[in-house]
Amino acid sequence: MRVAFLQTSPVFGKIKENVEKAAAKLKTLDASLVVLPELFSTGYQFKSKKEVSLLSEEAPQGWTSQRLIRIAKNKKIFIVAGISEKHCGRFYNSALLIGPKGFIGAYRKAHLFWNEKKFFTTGNTSFKVYDIGIAKVGMMICFDWLFPEVARILALKGADIICHPSNLVLPHCPQAMITRCLENKVFAITANRVGVEHRIKGQKLKFIGQSEIVAPDGKILCRASDNKEKIGIVEIDHKLARNKNITPLNNIFKDRRKKLYKPHIC
Ligand code: ACM
Repeated sequence: MRVAFLQTSPVFGKIKENVEKAAAKLKTLDASLVVLPELFSTGYQFKSKKEVSLLSEEAPQGWTSQRLIRIAKNKKIFIVAGISEKHCGRFYNSALLIGPKGFIGAYRKAHLFWNEKKFFTTGNTSFKVYDIGIAKVGMMICFDWLFPEVARILALKGADIICHPSNLVLPHCPQAMITRCLENKVFAITANRVGVEHRIKGQKLKFIGQSEIVAPDGKILCRASDNKEKIGIVEIDHKLARNKNITPLNNIFKDRRKKLYKPHIC
């Protein structure tokens, strides 16, 4: 199976432009599953709740969802993409999973980063794994990488591939995702963006690119540069993620000492 990421450089507030640019790339792509960055349609640095309100869309009724659904149907592909989602008067930093038959599900970011806390509601979706036929996939968004519970739960629920739309600004995630993959023996596709947003005085954000596809043994199968748009595609065997053995006597799930962990978990 071929899987891919789009590393893009959205212009803040230009939804149609950002989505059409990504759509043009999606149309030429030869992969079954493609991951786009967090908030790929809107850009990242919101200045007010009013802006969030103006740029948020319902899923799957909104224009961006419908545009992605059309592409996924025509190309018979699966797409994971980050948008600003409007739902029942609240706003979520969400990732949509869309396939050849249309909308499949949304994940709403559980661990909000910095100013996101001022504008978005903390996610209320569980960490769900979807069997999409070609693989079992789960979603997490950007800063969720720093909370190892997320990747662990998705792996325990059977995810072969973690789709990880991102707008990374801290430097550590590309390396940390190697550990997330290794400790859970899963594939991960991190789709980050590049470019700079400096819409708030004193808060210049430089997005670090380095989108990547990492294998269950921690091998980086493809990594983009830190400053250029890029399409990354690799062929993977998702079933490799179903073997949780490290040695003939070690299985990362069966070896867990749950009874020892339990008294410490609150
Ligand atoms: C982030 O979570 N967008 C850093």
